[in-house]
Amino acid sequence: MSIEKAYNAWAAQYDTNENKTRDLDIKATIDTLSKYKFKYVLELGCGTGKNTGWLLSKAEQVIGLDFSQEMLNIAKEKITDSNVQFKKADLNKEWEIENQFADLVTSSLTLEHIDDLNHIFYQAHQKLMGNGIFFISELHPFKQYVGSKAKFETENGVEELKVFIHHISDYVDSAEHNDFELLEINEWFDDASEKQIPRLISFVFRKKN
Ligand SMILES: C[S@@+](CC[C@H](N)C(=O)[O-])C[C@H]1O[C@@H](n2cnc3c(N)ncnc32)[C@H](O)[C@@H]1O
Repeated sequence: MSIEKAYNAWAAQYDTNENKTRDLDIKATIDTLSKYKFKYVLELGCGTGKNTGWLLSKAEQVIGLDFSQEMLNIAKEKITDSNVQFKKADLNKEWEIENQFADLVTSSLTLEHIDDLNHIFYQAHQKLMGNGIFFISELHPFKQYVGSKAKFETENGVEELKVFIHHISDYVDSAEHNDFELLEINEWFDDASEKQIPRLISFVFRKKN
């Protein structure tokens, strides 16, 4: 099943199924981005709008991009504020957003489905103002190395989605190559127990002028 079709199938259960990765991402996103000021947000892979409402509580305008119509439909039902636009778009293509629109580009749990990280950093650089922030929260590559990946239950069993492994060095190298500097890197653990493999990794990059 393609990634797009899989998310269309997953959408109805996405917000309610048990999903530790989804839940920990809320903490990673809020704990990290609470420290920053932003007004114009571009949210990559916004899905059902799980983080969009919180982003809007700090911003003036949010544009959410996603290629799953079913995920977007749920987001649109939940969030009707006129300062939010949800747009159907494939992140692997050129993003049809005005250049330098955003002071924050944010991406949660989406880049594991993207092969070419360099394209994402290039596009993010184009859409950010000078000194703009690029926040990424992803399944930790250490989890990926032991086989963790996005998956959900269907009538016919567990559907595992197509994923790409990105090493920590891949994020850092793509960022550097596209003129970003690294401000923060954090690892997020289940139950705050640092004895296990971290579930998530997050980065804050800043666009250099
Ligand atoms: C695990 S969900 C995360 C949704 C939301 N960011 C969250 O944290 O709950 C991944 C989202 O990325 C979207 N996605 C994956 N690949 C994409 C692509 N190439 N273009 C646009 N959206 C994509 C999926 O449709 C899905 O909504």
